[in-house]
Amino acid sequence: MIGGGYVGLVSGACLAAFGAEVTVIEQDPARLARLQSGDVPIYEPGLAALLERQRIAGRLSFCGHLAEALPGREAVFIAVGTPARRGSGHADLRYVSQVVEELARCAENLPGGRELLVVMKSTVPVGTGRDVARKLAELRPDLRFTVASNPEFLREGEAINDFMQPDRVVIGLDGQRPGADRARAFLTRLYCSETSSLTPDRLAFMGLESAELTKYAANAFLALKVTFINEMADLCEASGGVIEEVARGMGLDPRIGAAFLQPGPGYGGSCFPKDTRALATTARQKGTPMQLVETTIATNEARKRRLAERILALAATLRPLSSDPDAAERPQNGEVQIAVLGLAFKAGTDDMRDAPALTILPLLLEAGARLHLYDPQAMAQARTQLGQREGLTFAASLEDALAQAELVVVLTEWPLFRALTPQTLARLMPGRLVIDCRNLWPPEEMRAAGFTYHRLGRGL
Ligand code: UGA
Repeated sequence: MIGGGYVGLVSGACLAAFGAEVTVIEQDPARLARLQSGDVPIYEPGLAALLERQRIAGRLSFCGHLAEALPGREAVFIAVGTPARRGSGHADLRYVSQVVEELARCAENLPGGRELLVVMKSTVPVGTGRDVARKLAELRPDLRFTVASNPEFLREGEAINDFMQPDRVVIGLDGQRPGADRARAFLTRLYCSETSSLTPDRLAFMGLESAELTKYAANAFLALKVTFINEMADLCEASGGVIEEVARGMGLDPRIGAAFLQPGPGYGGSCFPKDTRALATTARQKGTPMQLVETTIATNEARKRRLAERILALAATLRPLSSDPDAAERPQNGEVQIAVLGLAFKAGTDDMRDAPALTILPLLLEAGARLHLYDPQAMAQARTQLGQREGLTFAASLEDALAQAELVVVLTEWPLFRALTPQTLARLMPGRLVIDCRNLWPPEEMRAAGFTYHRLGRGL
């Protein structure tokens, strides 16, 4: 398993649990040392324990060099990063290329005429699998190998379960290549082993390009669904509807489905923003622009800015903000104190990549608000991403964040926040104004506790 990042670690641990003997290759010496000492550098529920169990069982190890780990292995999974390039939004395939060159240097032919199976787990643009095969064949005409595309559909926070009990495992193979049938049999054995509860009907075999496109299509479609419900929520607010009722009514139609219909501050994370941009770029390059996807991206960006404006408008009802041109003439009593609950792009993760907080918070700071930030997992990441800025306090606890709050902004749906009763919230903060971008609390109870409670998709 090349790459000790999120996908590599989860896939490596789970395949080991399915009975495979897995070595995770991690190039970064510091990260490798941490992994070897049992320290897991990412937050994912259950991952550390699973890695440890597989390590003790002798099915999982970590290594810095592919050349050391490769002899005797039947398959190589590529799980390296494919970050978005600045500007174009196209996936940066530099790490994939490095792996192919490294493979060409150290791969040996397997005994018995079998092909080495090269499986792409990283999210890569359509055509990459075929390019990898071409390049490897060029560099090593003697090597017998097959390339497969096996994109992952893991959600952060649910990754172990998503890997162990997936709705489907998508596997793309070039049916024309020698070894395609053997690859199919090998991957079926790997995923549907005795210790896995998967049955072969869960495996969706298809062509290489189709598998690569499926990954982007699924993420773009989900991003579109979230964006749609966010726009519906705006319309509910403007017209008297309640978004949860509309979502339930829509979701009962199995063709639509109830999942991914919760309004929020806009989608974020390491996947949707990057993958929608990459898909839009590919589609343009191929001469078939995907306007729905492009509009989704623009709508999601605009949403975060509009939410910041909405928060500032609420803050200004308390006291004029320093960016307000009239502020100098009005009596002031310090800046508006805002507690921000949740920074990660969603609950269950410490991931701040493309989190809505990164767009929204700087706009609040620029307008002169004082922000007290709290997240149960993402404080370290938030510090790195947001840096030290005037007006920004990283609170040591939820209580500290709330202690001076005149206004509360909820950005992430952590169970810890949901578990706060409106009475407790009222006791912990001096103010009575809340804007909840995750619809955590019952509006009637919030009102009864004395709050002016703004939430998404429902008028006051
Ligand atoms: C997503 C996909 O769900 C996975 O299937 C995929 O494998 C993964 O990307 C990936 O490509 O690696 P993830 O980024 O972990 O997983 O997050 P999701 O749970 O899908 O949430 C994405 C964003 O949509 C979050 O910002 C979340 O807050 C938002 N969202 C989701 C909503 O605002 N409302 C919803 O109803 C659902």
